[in-house]
Amino acid sequence: SARLALAPSYAIDDAAEVNAGLALTQDSRILATIQRLSDFQNRLYDSSHGVAASDWLAGEWRGIVAGRSWMKVSQVRHAGWPQKSVKLVIQGSGPGAAETVVLGAHLDSIAGNASSEVRAPGADDDASGVAALTEVIRVFSERNYRPQRTIEFIAYAAEEVGLRGSQQIAKKYQRAGKPVVGVLQLDMTAFQGDPTDLWIFTDYTNAAQNQFVADLAAAYLPLLGVGYDRCGYGCSDHASWTGRGFAASFPFEASFAHDNKAIHSANDTTTTFGNQARHALKFAQLALAYAVELG
Ligand code: BES
Ligand code: ZN
Repeated sequence: SARLALAPSYAIDDAAEVNAGLALTQDSRILATIQRLSDFQNRLYDSSHGVAASDWLAGEWRGIVAGRSWMKVSQVRHAGWPQKSVKLVIQGSGPGAAETVVLGAHLDSIAGNASSEVRAPGADDDASGVAALTEVIRVFSERNYRPQRTIEFIAYAAEEVGLRGSQQIAKKYQRAGKPVVGVLQLDMTAFQGDPTDLWIFTDYTNAAQNQFVADLAAAYLPLLGVGYDRCGYGCSDHASWTGRGFAASFPFEASFAHDNKAIHSANDTTTTFGNQARHALKFAQLALAYAVELG
């Protein structure tokens, strides 16, 4: 198929850039971002709070990349609801600049009856994914990093109501023939549910890219234990990309059975994971290695 022409090299050969970046990542920064996102009453896709959280994140990312002309933040409007997705594009500098690597997490939260004033901190689900990506962005900006391919970080709107934000974006990219060579989804990274650190979910994902993710962990995070599991359904935004023919992976915080039981409630706060982000840091580091080695 046309998609097979996009199968990228999964060579791991940029240890200097990856290790320099890894050394700058800080769990305290991730925790601070999780806290800021959790402080919104909720981040519902159709509430004023969800809209405000999108505006706040766009401003936060803009501040982080200020002065880097090749890094641009925008908000993506969606048909049908007011919360915008937030996107940071790091323009590629090599001959492969048209090819794009996507790293995503979902911006919205949900709880209870999903009324517009419900308390839905969504600290783990999925402030922890957005915060991990934000730390990767901060390190890339600090290093004035310029990839060969173009890298996009996307905080999706409206995941919790049926992956709607990512579905619109993946559909748009497919129709435009955008050469997306790989997609990584971070959804729930802060709660360590098992002694094994990193769980690679094998359904609605791409087996070859999953092997690359495992190889990245072995190369750069050799102390981490890696396991494999499945959601059994299209449980997060990676499924939107897989459905459109793109290669997606979903490294998760725990086995499916041992995930954070506080999600989708007012109790999904930083307290549930001990007010620290050491587990989330592992996912930020994996995402950084993924972005550099595929970018
Ligand atoms: N973060 C969850 C997905 C998840 C939950 C993965 C538990 C692994 C363990 C995500 O935000 C979510 O809630 N997804 C929905 C489905 C979606 C299509 C609305 C779900 O799992 O019910
Ligand atoms: Zn959820």
